[in-house]
Amino acid sequence: MLRNITLHITEDYAAMGRKAAEIFAGAVKESPAGVFGFATGSTPEGLYKELAKMHATGTRFDGITTFNLDEYHPIQPGNTQSYHYYMKERVFGPLGIKNTHVPDGEATDPLAECARYEARLTAAGEMAMQILGIGHNGHIGFNEPGEAFARLASYVPLTPSTIEANARLFEDPAMVPRHALTIGIHAIMMAKRILLLASGAGKADILARALQGPITPQVPASILQLHPCVTVVADQAAAAGL
Ligand code: GLP
Repeated sequence: MLRNITLHITEDYAAMGRKAAEIFAGAVKESPAGVFGFATGSTPEGLYKELAKMHATGTRFDGITTFNLDEYHPIQPGNTQSYHYYMKERVFGPLGIKNTHVPDGEATDPLAECARYEARLTAAGEMAMQILGIGHNGHIGFNEPGEAFARLASYVPLTPSTIEANARLFEDPAMVPRHALTIGIHAIMMAKRILLLASGAGKADILARALQGPITPQVPASILQLHPCVTVVADQAAAAGL
């Protein structure tokens, strides 16, 4: 394993959430008014539950500013599958965070929305920590595999494999949006620390390719090998290939 990558292997999903919460809360303690990057998906749900428990017993998160990685497009914020909804229910409400940013899934001009979001991110200053999950095809945010790393925020068509992977969450698979707005690789790589989470046997192969394989835009998460400070928390099943 590269020296810039610290790996914590936990027994199971619940322990992954606890370990990640301890690390995240430590970063917030160091930077109580810092900027933090949030991810959605099933993987960080355990982390968010643990943070909510910490908040209930007095840990404060309300001084931070948050930026989410991505949002489907088009999608209404009230749609239960939108990342707006996910964050309101699991993070912003339970942790009492007010200063939040999520790309606008209803933007009529998605390219202009990407530029606006990128400008807000840049103006906010250094991100203390970026939470990441990893897609089965190696995507981070919605930066899908391709010919080049997408540097800035972009409006992207989702790959058939991502649409299929996320269909499980929608009542009707035909309702999965075909596009998304995502921050780019540059903003992710500029974060002071990365907290990458992975859970389950289905992520074992891609996690190994991301952390130990060639650095290639075909596996967007492989760029993290070039980041100076990455903490990976993976359960045993996801870490099996490392
Ligand atoms: C989603 C999100 C990513 C997430 C990934 C994995 O499509 N855009 O930010 O990390 O796919 O999701 P999950 O944690 O549900 O496996």
